[in-house]
Amino acid sequence: MSALLAQTTEIEVDSTPFSDYETDGGSELSTQSLSSSIREHVYENGRRYHRKSAGQYFLPSDETEQDRLDLLHHLYTLVRGGALYMAPLREDPARVLDAGTGTGVWALDFGDIHPGSEVVGVDLAPIQPDWTFPNVKFECDDLEKDWTWKLNHFNYIHSRALATAIKDWSRYFTQCFRHTAPGGYIEIVEYALDRLWSDDDTLKDSALEKFMAKFSEGLSKSGINVHVDGEYIKKGLEEAGFTDVQVHPARIPCGAWPKEPNAKRVGATQHLNLQTGLEAHGLNIFTQVLEMTVEEANELIAAALKDVERRKVHSYTIVWNVVARKPE
Ligand SMILES: C[S@@+](CC[C@H](N)C(=O)[O-])C[C@H]1O[C@@H](n2cnc3c(N)ncnc32)[C@H](O)[C@@H]1O
Repeated sequence: MSALLAQTTEIEVDSTPFSDYETDGGSELSTQSLSSSIREHVYENGRRYHRKSAGQYFLPSDETEQDRLDLLHHLYTLVRGGALYMAPLREDPARVLDAGTGTGVWALDFGDIHPGSEVVGVDLAPIQPDWTFPNVKFECDDLEKDWTWKLNHFNYIHSRALATAIKDWSRYFTQCFRHTAPGGYIEIVEYALDRLWSDDDTLKDSALEKFMAKFSEGLSKSGINVHVDGEYIKKGLEEAGFTDVQVHPARIPCGAWPKEPNAKRVGATQHLNLQTGLEAHGLNIFTQVLEMTVEEANELIAAALKDVERRKVHSYTIVWNVVARKPE
């Protein structure tokens, strides 16, 4: 398990001088069978959105966003010390579902190291590669509709970063339960949408704090539950019928401000994620839901990103891996 996950005390700040004018957050850590209608897109304020997801999912699906999702996959595994999942899988689970698979990167990695598993990745948007491993396939479907897979079918369901996507969590957990095989596992991975944390007072009154407050307000207005944290997921899974629920929280620093090298690397990766992630999350919600002008939205996004780059705001988010089992 990573040192970051095990950490229970405050994250120590790297107080090495850092120029306000440097904007790359530390160059040493920067890295450089479907129908045609589901491939249709709309363009708005320079970003491309999947047409079929309009009104349902507000993040873009363009190449910039796909690159960010692949980076996010790297970030999640980095936080877990390289692990793809935390469920106690002893052998290759026969049937695996990756719900809201995005670019399919998790499903492909899982299928690669579990050749005995048949992996299905499902998403609203067809942004997965055409080439895939023989044991991995992708489907386009809406997880908020009635699932058409067989009941008691999947030996392991993986669901990551869908807090901005799922509106009815209770129904989602129930469908997961009905389609998990007895004795099978579920793993839900989500990060906080309602706030950031800081162990000192640097987050207070920052642009980053304002960004989160506005973002959270806009999400709530559009019917998204912004309080899907570890405890919420645990309760929802138990109510659906799952047992042995384990919640594994980990902190992700927003920027390369920590002193400890592992935490700094995670923070620098989060900085890269936020370089396009703040816009991906904020632009549509700010302009369409909160009716800010594009200029106002861009100004807030740029100011929040500066807070991350400058390393003066020592904030972090929390990601929860919640693992549970369906009784035999
Ligand atoms: C933030 S991405 C996460 C992708 C992937 N799980 C990962 O961790 O890399 C959320 C994904 O959920 C998909 N999505 C949103 N609403 C959905 C729905 N109702 N049914 C299926 N997929 C959905 C989006 O198209 C997007 O690819």
